[in-house]
Amino acid sequence: MAFRIYNSPLLNPPISSAALHPPQRLTAPNPLPCSNINNSKILGVNSGKRRFVSVRVQTTPDRRAMPEDRMLVFVPPHPLIKHWISVLRNEQTPCPIFKNAMAELGRLLMYEASRDWLPTIAGEIQSPMGVASVEFIDPREPVSIVPILRAGLALAEHASSILPATKTYHLGIVRDEETLQPTVYLNKLPEKFPGGSRVFVVDPMLATGGTVVAALELIKERGIDNKQIKVISAIAAPPALQKLSEKFPGLHVYAGILDPTVNDKGLILPGLGDAGDRSFGT
Ligand code: PRP
Repeated sequence: MAFRIYNSPLLNPPISSAALHPPQRLTAPNPLPCSNINNSKILGVNSGKRRFVSVRVQTTPDRRAMPEDRMLVFVPPHPLIKHWISVLRNEQTPCPIFKNAMAELGRLLMYEASRDWLPTIAGEIQSPMGVASVEFIDPREPVSIVPILRAGLALAEHASSILPATKTYHLGIVRDEETLQPTVYLNKLPEKFPGGSRVFVVDPMLATGGTVVAALELIKERGIDNKQIKVISAIAAPPALQKLSEKFPGLHVYAGILDPTVNDKGLILPGLGDAGDRSFGT
């Protein structure tokens, strides 16, 4: 299944790949246990403010005509996002600054992902100078954060300060270093999410995709639909995006940047190293 990638906010229409210049080719990753992305062609193009990438080379139809069940990947074109990604990539960045950069990146990505997604209630309020029409985030609509430990803790750090009312459900998942298969070692998810919940799944690295897929399966078992989930990630790579697009149509993924390759140790290249180790210095 194809997926589409924008670096413009949700409401901006995509642009035709034919209109973009110059094209930048992203290479397919090395063979991976969990990936069939090698068979797909990935085309990335940059045109100043906007970028469009598709696994298939074709002219892009207007976004409004796109099938609702296609997975969308957003790479917000914000200079601060680029800045914090650069700090994270730098091997010289010390651990506390790395963790802070991850937290700032998470704040920006959650801000972008909240656009047009969080429900508001309107009313009137008395300001010191008069009555004003106002909108607040509707506190009756549940918003949940699911950080995937360990590294997701750093990316989700500011969630509670930018989102007015959230609950945090921790999910600990670790990959086996040899097989790259994920194991769940901590599951604080509720038995069922409240009806109408919106869920941010926060994991800095989408590499082979095994971890995020395991997390989404657990969340979906608890009554959540793909369209109620936004995945927040610092760096996403093609094997993970391919897997997500096949298993979770309609899902929205927000990433700071996309990298082209995952090596046979499951590390994203050029990436930023091991996000958990670098965030916590262990
Ligand atoms: C890393 C990373 C992701 C996962 C991505 O976690 O933080 O959670 O790997 O890999 P995948 O897409 O190939 O599944 P890790 O298992 O190293 O645990 P940590 O966060 O505790 O370091």
